[in-house]
Amino acid sequence: MPSEYPFILTPSLLSSDFSRIGEELAALEQAGLEWVHWDVMDGAFVPNITFGPPVIKACRTQSKLFFDVHLMIEQPDRYLSEFVDAGADLLCVHAEACTHLERTVSEIVRLGAKCGVALNPHTPLDVVEYLLPQLDMVLVMSVNPGFGGQKFIPFTKKKMQRLRAMIQEQKLSTHIQVDGGITPENIREMAGHGANVFVSGSAFFGFPPYADRYRTFLDALER
Ligand code: DX5
Ligand code: ZN
Repeated sequence: MPSEYPFILTPSLLSSDFSRIGEELAALEQAGLEWVHWDVMDGAFVPNITFGPPVIKACRTQSKLFFDVHLMIEQPDRYLSEFVDAGADLLCVHAEACTHLERTVSEIVRLGAKCGVALNPHTPLDVVEYLLPQLDMVLVMSVNPGFGGQKFIPFTKKKMQRLRAMIQEQKLSTHIQVDGGITPENIREMAGHGANVFVSGSAFFGFPPYADRYRTFLDALER
């Protein structure tokens, strides 16, 4: 499927083997992946807890992958510089967790990282409309955040489509990331609705070897 936007697959480490994250990162790089998705959860914004800056920092020294960091945490402003210092290439904050979203976005840009805003499935697109020129990416959550392996929520397809139209209307090239329930079976449909950065956790890590699985996702896009 030809696209004016680059297609990027970013495997979610949430479904990787946490006892061997360094090796998992090396295996992804070896398989030809360029991005990796870190799901940071604080047990408050979402009912689950994962990892924070020290783990990312420890892995940064071992990996050249683009670290795409999805912050599912309350009041992310408290930790932005720590995550950038740890080696995050892109920080994505949830609009629902930021009272002063423009301030948070400006701070991420000031710190020198790429900036994304994530929206829960029910959150309207209006919250990012005026911020789009400042953003590298908008993350459309296609499950309620907190856990891997959940079922894709169909109405989010309409949302991706409207967001792509909004981005084109403003003559921007903002990435649209879709996160939750993405598989080789539905990735092409996501691209058709305007998404170009695809997160996959359970449908990726559950199917080694990773080079073959990556090929399966890419083939599904090109079909
Ligand atoms: C959910 C996370 C996702 C999740 C995706 O809170 O943001 O990144 O790990 O996992 P799958 O692909 O299994 O839905
Ligand atoms: Zn995520």
